[in-house]
Amino acid sequence: MDTQLTDLIRAASAVRKQAYVPYSGFAVGAAVQCKSGAVFVGSNIENISYGLTICAERIAVASAVAAGQREFVAIAVVADTSEPIVPCGACRQFLAEFAPELIIVSATMRGGQKIESLSHLLPDPKRGILENVHIH
Ligand code: THU
Repeated sequence: MDTQLTDLIRAASAVRKQAYVPYSGFAVGAAVQCKSGAVFVGSNIENISYGLTICAERIAVASAVAAGQREFVAIAVVADTSEPIVPCGACRQFLAEFAPELIIVSATMRGGQKIESLSHLLPDPKRGILENVHIH
């Protein structure tokens, strides 16, 4: 794996420690690499009203967008699982808003790694919407 992706995994792994997970205990870290080279990180934030929980991936991307970044090349996701995890359906759609071809690098705390493309996990994220929604 190239060093940029290794660095991205390291950033995701570091921010995972900030996860606020009093309900599940399942900490996730994410780091998104912008086209500009900047990296933004996020960890999951749970809520007593469970459905309001925000995944690490969306926190990372929201932080990047708030800083003026909208072009992304890769996102790393780290969790302490036996197999690398991939973003949930909601996050896939959220990521596809900005980067339908995003590279997803998943890693475990035990060194497992996997690379996938968002377009494989979520084909046609905007089909039927772009043609019918009037975009201002
Ligand atoms: N979670 C993430 O942050 N990212 C994922 O890719 C999978 C799920 C969080 C949401 C919730 O806080 C906990 O993990 C259990 O689902």
